[in-house]
Amino acid sequence: MKFFLDTAIVEEIREGLDLGLVDGVTTNPSLIAKSGRDHKEVVLEICDMVDGPVSAEVIATDFEGMREEAEMLASWHENVVVKVPLTEAGLKTVHQLAPQGIRFNVTLCFSLAQALLAAKAGASFISPFVGRWDDINTRGIELIPEMVQMYDNYGFDTQVLVASIRSPLHVTEAALAGAQVATLPFGVLRQMFKHPLTDIGIEKFLADYRKTQES
Ligand code: E4P
Repeated sequence: MKFFLDTAIVEEIREGLDLGLVDGVTTNPSLIAKSGRDHKEVVLEICDMVDGPVSAEVIATDFEGMREEAEMLASWHENVVVKVPLTEAGLKTVHQLAPQGIRFNVTLCFSLAQALLAAKAGASFISPFVGRWDDINTRGIELIPEMVQMYDNYGFDTQVLVASIRSPLHVTEAALAGAQVATLPFGVLRQMFKHPLTDIGIEKFLADYRKTQES
């Protein structure tokens, strides 16, 4: 399973890369705003750091605007994957530009029907948002095994990129379902290391080591 970091904060990406755990990055307008940086400047810096896909999202909502923006974003760097929302205009943009070699991550996906359309349009990645389903009291992760199965049934190349992840449990359930990618907030990546028995075990080993030094 590939891990992307869901952030536009370069310090977090650097830490993740140092751990050897980052295969790509996803950004969105909210994450860019949180970074406090210029969109192009920060996306280019991330692309230079990461040897993998870096999602940069369009702002336009109409087809013409999305097409222009998609061409512009893709021209910034070979690592850029253009993120478009799961709308008619978004999928028309994918259908028209994917054959030219532009890669797309279709975002804001909340149903199997939407995921099927994105794959047929030629998306490289589909981003089902599991946490936002959980926010409205519905288990979003339940979509993932069915989405993976649905794509497998027809041999679609579109990769399931599980997004809106809120916990390590989301990541492991996505992995068990066979999703190709999970995009993680840096805090969730850090939480995945934690286990109280690991901490207790280290304390015990150190205490026992200290005893051998006393005699
Ligand atoms: C995905 O690419 C999105 O950037 C992200 O996962 C959305 O997560 P959120 O629901 O926590 O905003």
